[in-house]
Parts: sequence; structure tokens; C-alpha cells
Amino acid sequence: MDEPKKSTPSLRARADKIRHLRCKNLIAVIEHPDDLRNIGTVIRNVNALGVEKAYVVSDSNALPDDWQEMRERPKLSAISASAIKWSFVRKFADTESCLAHLESKGFVSAVTSPHTKGRKNVILHEADYTKYTKLAVWFGNEGTGISTLALDRSEFCINIPMGGIIESLNLGTSSGIVLYEITKQRRAFQDRLRAKVAANKLGRRAV
Ligand SMILES: C[S@@+](CC[C@H](N)C(=O)[O-])C[C@H]1O[C@@H](n2cnc3c(N)ncnc32)[C@H](O)[C@@H]1O
Repeated sequence: MDEPKKSTPSLRARADKIRHLRCKNLIAVIEHPDDLRNIGTVIRNVNALGVEKAYVVSDSNALPDDWQEMRERPKLSAISASAIKWSFVRKFADTESCLAHLESKGFVSAVTSPHTKGRKNVILHEADYTKYTKLAVWFGNEGTGISTLALDRSEFCINIPMGGIIESLNLGTSSGIVLYEITKQRRAFQDRLRAKVAANKLGRRAV
């Protein structure tokens, strides 16, 4: 196999420059997406909004198992506007193995749905997403939505308020809206934490 192409120095410099904007311990999970274009859009949103990782639950061969192979697929690279080269993406064969992995690492899951589902439902902009140190946000299939298994193992369900006749948003679009709100909150929280640590350090030095 050919060696992966080296990134240009300017892109590497940009990646270093925006590193502090990345939201640590935030993962977007796409559950059994049918459409490669939606996968590409979610990965693009993940990268653009500073989400740490993307997980894809899929038993389809259309998506390679290995990240390196995904990065080398011209179609996926084109759809994601090359974001796949810059964002970590991992594939899981089923929902159970993805949940087991997340839970073993201490992640709390939250599902998204246009419907009120499960024990606790929150309106996107009314919830606090900084309460969970490690958070995985799940997006469901284009037709069937989120699975009962993912719903049962999630702390809450996020709803984007719908103001039209149409019942739901497109998968890629909804990922952009949901992840924008969550990254906005978590980034502000990270910034406050950094400022506090810096102030404490200064205080200690002054003593
Ligand atoms: C096209 S929708 C699936 C519609 C499906 N009929 C259902 O009942 O969920 C694909 C995914 O986008 C997300 N989504 C779409 N509209 C949403 C909304 N208003 N609030 C939260 N998530 C939404 C959810 O993750 C959903 O599983």
C-alpha cells in the first residue's frame, strides 16, 4: 500500500493553531446511516465544529472498517471536504459494541430525535451539556431514527424544536445544529476552566 500523503506545512500549522478550540471528550455517533453523503456531512460538521471524534455504527461494506482506508476513499474525502483526513473516525459493527466501548471509557450517551422519546427529553438550547465530562451524542438512521437500544442506554434525548409541517430534519443538517449548540457550551466551559487554572498558577507564583 502507498504511504499516506504528507499534509502541507500550512495545513499542519492551521491544525496546530485551532487545537485549543477542539472540544475534548465529545463524540458524535451516527447509527446505521444509509447515505454516504450524510456520513460525509456529519464528519465535516464534526471537524468544523471541533468535536473530538466521530463513531459510525454500520454493518455495511460501503464504509471501510479502518480509518486509514476511509481517508483514502476519494468519494468520502470529497463529500466530507477532506474533513475525514483531519477527524478521527471509528466504525463499529453494531450498537451494542459501540455502547459497550463508550461505557467502558466512562462516556454518557445522549440520543437525538425529532420525537419525545425515553425517560428524559430536553429542548436543544435549554439543556446544559457541560455537566457530563465525557459525552457521546447519537444521531439515528434517515428512515427509522434512533434505535431502542441506544435510547435505553442514554441519559436523555435532545429535540430540536420543529416549526413547520415537516416532521424531522435531515441527518446531516440536524448534526450541525445539535453539535453547534453543544460545542458552543463546552468550549465556553473549557475557556473558563483554562482561565481559572491560569489565574490560580499566577496566584501561587505571587505568594
Ligand atoms: C431524518 S431523521 C429520522 C426521522 C425518523 N422518522 C425518526 O422518527 O426519527 C434522522 C436523524 O436526524 C436527527 N434529527 C432529525 N430531526 C431532529 C430533531 N428535530 N431533533 C433532534 N434530532 C433530529 C435524529 O438523530 C434522527 O434520528
